[in-house]
Amino acid sequence: AAEDEARIDEIKQLLEQRDAVLVAHYYTDDAIQQLAEETGGCVADSLEMARFGARHPASTLVVAGVRFMGETAKILSPEKRVLMPTLEATCSLDIGCPADEFSAFCDQHPDRTVVVYANTSAAVKARADWVVTSSIAVDVIEHLHARGEKILWAPDKHLGGYIRDKTGADMLLWDGACIVHDEFKAKGITDLKALHPDAAVLVHPESPAPVVEIADVVGSTSQLINAARELPQQRLIVATDRGIFFKMQQAVPDKTLFEAPTAGKGATCKSCAHCPWMAMNALDNLAGSLRELSGEVFVDAALRERALKPLERMLNFQR
Ligand code: 13P
Ligand code: SF4
Repeated sequence: AAEDEARIDEIKQLLEQRDAVLVAHYYTDDAIQQLAEETGGCVADSLEMARFGARHPASTLVVAGVRFMGETAKILSPEKRVLMPTLEATCSLDIGCPADEFSAFCDQHPDRTVVVYANTSAAVKARADWVVTSSIAVDVIEHLHARGEKILWAPDKHLGGYIRDKTGADMLLWDGACIVHDEFKAKGITDLKALHPDAAVLVHPESPAPVVEIADVVGSTSQLINAARELPQQRLIVATDRGIFFKMQQAVPDKTLFEAPTAGKGATCKSCAHCPWMAMNALDNLAGSLRELSGEVFVDAALRERALKPLERMLNFQR
């Protein structure tokens, strides 16, 4: 703990020296979220992270999260230096959607509007008409569907299926999944609910359909935290990365929160309900990146220009 304190002090000093601000996702370590909050940065979902980074006057953004979040920050603010504690922090959705294969898939369906989830590489975004995060995906697809557009969606099949059911849009889905949310099982949740029949079930839409079907609320990380506050229930079963419990419990100090069970829970499960890539962000490498200016994110200029358009559409979208 004394070591952590020293690291935290060092990071605070470096943030000032470097004219930097810390932008953290809800799935990162509690200590990183706490630090972001204390130093005037933000702890947020992926859409709010993008908005905050683009608007903040600091000349350096330190993005604690996964690679696509750093890339998005750089695409939106090319004049800023964007650092990440580690550039190794990727995402199974990003890995599962290589740009060349995706581009070939798009070529086969030229009649469809290409909408990609933010959890993708800059190269995949560059091929898209729209980028969306989970917090506005339904609204954007509703809007496109109302205009009579047919959609090509990538990469998360669960989120895509959920939006398709909700909006009735014609959506062709890429076959990708989040390894963390894919582990949630409806059976485990209904068993837990049998023990706490008064509990509400909160689910991130990257979870499989049977889990989404038994949810009281489906939403992005920020939307789930807001729902926790607004729901009348005192007990909440939450199906998303356990990193969310830090802010959620602060938001509802008097409520009891339960982690939704995962299939692999037990001694053999290394990644269930906690993203292994989010977990790569630590105080040590965060301090290191600020000290040595390592982990800087670069996006090719031509690619950046193409990826910016669908990202700006997302940021300018009004419900
Ligand atoms: P949010 O946009 O809900 O923060 O989701 C990002 C993410 O990676 C979820 O796994
Ligand atoms: Fe990607 Fe899933 Fe990790 Fe989110 S939790 S960053 S979707 S692997």
